[in-house]
Amino acid sequence: MAQSHSPARAVRLFEVGPRDGLQNARQILSVEQKIELIERLVAAGLRDVEIGSFVHPRWVPQMSGTDEVATRLPRREGVRYWALVPNERGLERAVAAGVRHLCLLNSASESHAGSNLNRTVAAGQRINAELARQARADGAVLRGYVSTAFGCPFEGSVDFDRVLAVTESFLEQGVDEVSLGDTIGAAHPLQVREKARRVLERFGPERIAFHFHETRGLALANAFAALEEGAGVLDGSVGGVGGCPYAPGASGNVATEDLVHLLDGMNIDSRVSADELVTTTRWLDETLGVRPASSYYAWRRGAAATG
Ligand code: HMG
Ligand code: MG
Repeated sequence: MAQSHSPARAVRLFEVGPRDGLQNARQILSVEQKIELIERLVAAGLRDVEIGSFVHPRWVPQMSGTDEVATRLPRREGVRYWALVPNERGLERAVAAGVRHLCLLNSASESHAGSNLNRTVAAGQRINAELARQARADGAVLRGYVSTAFGCPFEGSVDFDRVLAVTESFLEQGVDEVSLGDTIGAAHPLQVREKARRVLERFGPERIAFHFHETRGLALANAFAALEEGAGVLDGSVGGVGGCPYAPGASGNVATEDLVHLLDGMNIDSRVSADELVTTTRWLDETLGVRPASSYYAWRRGAAATG
């Protein structure tokens, strides 16, 4: 029987706000605003930031300026700027913009693969194998997303063996890390505990990340369950903004500052400051009008108002 891991002493936080956060926002931020957002996140201590996606601009207009963001963003020692690449055209654009950290994607369910990427899961595996081959030959570092890993908006529950199979196929293609997406916040902590145990046991905590969306109020509890099983990488979005435009009902990711607050209380080092992050959440909220959904931010605002 699989053994439970103990919680890690340090966790790497992977910031998806400039991509997953903004792709579902009503406002389209300018290139300057996106660059300022990314620079603020780095100043708060984040070292892995997904800066946008090279998807079709008609499919996701919010991501249309990613080429310019990537070209103009000053590179910083020790900071990895990632971008989502769905196909060959996306890879060409990423290479032209000098992005060396690439996120590939697939789904564990057929209907979400069709809705999100206009292809089957198997076709996605073939496309990703070719993208991974080219990108690795070019020295790029790769991450793979498995969407609908805990439930699908069209099919309901998803057999976890399918999630493990898509994960394994990414790793066999030379992808360095796979992030399991709870695209519509369907996961429950008890389910996460069992599934995290299986996936971490099989592939190791250094190769698996967890990507929780806060659709039904359990994202932080799900993160806690994954941490208890030894998760070493968690995805978060500043202010808790975000969602997949091709998954009905999807809402924001777990807020990065809420994750930091959780980790701080567990004495798990993330090298990120929750208080610095909430200054960016306030800027998104008050200056740019991007509505946050972060408990830590709400508490800080309340404390500031009554203190
Ligand atoms: P398609 O329509 O099947 O594309 O879309 P196609 O290959 O048939 O090409 C049609 C046209 O699009 C051609 O142009 C291509 O050049 C162009 P035309 O000849 O008609 O002028 N094209 C592109 N242009 C710019 N950039 C590109 C590109 N590709 C083709 N990359 C495609 C297929 C993959 C492009 C489309 O389905 C797409 O863009 N999907 C992205 C959807 C998306 O971004 N979803 C949100 C991200 S996923 C997510 O949020 C989940 C995650 O957070 C984890 C979780 O929470 O579960 C990661
Ligand atoms: Mg997502």
